[in-house]
Amino acid sequence: MGRNKVTVIGAGNVGATAAQRIAEAGLADVVLVDIVEGLPQGKGLDLAEAAPVVGHDAHILGTNDYADTAGSDIVVVTSGLARQPGMSRDDLLAKNAGIVRSVVQAAVAHSPDCILVIVTNPLDAMCHVAMEASGFPRERVIGMAGVLDSSRFRTFIAMELGVSVEDTHAFVLGGHGDTMVPLPRYSTVAGIPITELMPPERVQALVERTANGGAEIVAFLKAGSAYYAPAASTFEMVDAILRDRKRVLPCAVFLRGEYGVDGLFVGVPVVLGEGGMERIIEIRLTNDEAAAFQRSAGAVRELVDKLHA
Ligand code: APR
Repeated sequence: MGRNKVTVIGAGNVGATAAQRIAEAGLADVVLVDIVEGLPQGKGLDLAEAAPVVGHDAHILGTNDYADTAGSDIVVVTSGLARQPGMSRDDLLAKNAGIVRSVVQAAVAHSPDCILVIVTNPLDAMCHVAMEASGFPRERVIGMAGVLDSSRFRTFIAMELGVSVEDTHAFVLGGHGDTMVPLPRYSTVAGIPITELMPPERVQALVERTANGGAEIVAFLKAGSAYYAPAASTFEMVDAILRDRKRVLPCAVFLRGEYGVDGLFVGVPVVLGEGGMERIIEIRLTNDEAAAFQRSAGAVRELVDKLHA
């Protein structure tokens, strides 16, 4: 059996950091692609030159040419624009939709059997664009959002209680963004729901901080957005798929009636393995949770409708 091959499109902060994690774990050979000439070549060579010190044998290639991506097992899409001053959310939506559509078409032409992992924001809408552009079945188009959101929630739970992050689990549903739906009753420390371990107002404070997690980082960085945690979250999904681990992770997937939503990408717990999204795990929600989930799906629907308008 040959080595696995992962293409990462977008050699910016998230893409290059994800490429680094994948290569340094020895998980796969990595092809880093960007539209800017020299950027992926430079970062790719720099990463390759770290390999002897880090001690891995993954090949890393930076390129502007999709022919180099041929036969990839996974294609990670991080290419896009950040929101610039004066640019509305809708402008960003249209620009990134155009970018995601073109890179997905180019990538799947060379890797017709790949699994697409989408990272570009607005995430759920970009997944939709990627599914349309690829013509892939829903099992092979998966959005990275829930792993990041739940990692943020776990971080805040561990900080609050002074416990190891390793013993924390967090359950997050819904779209990526302000309307995301953290489920405290399924968020635990060593199996104990956090609702047993802190007062309701602290739970609520952590939930709000989680929903605002991306903006909190942007407020610090000013000129950029988060990338270490997004890249780590992307890595976890790539690892689950390539090593067929059947990890149960919250991901944005195309729902067909599950959770009462039809025809939209929304974050739900899924089983990730060699087939991509192998199964959706459905749980019963309380009325409040179901209402929050529907609100979140409604926000995704609005964006998708704008794209098709
Ligand atoms: N083809 C290939 N690469 C492109 C294209 C394109 N058509 N358009 C833009 N890019 C590249 C840019 O040249 C840039 O190098 O995408 C890269 C994006 O990198 P950054 O600006 O550093 O953005 P980053 O922080 O990595 O975030 C990327 O992930 O988490 C999301 O919201 C985030 O949508 C954003 C994406």
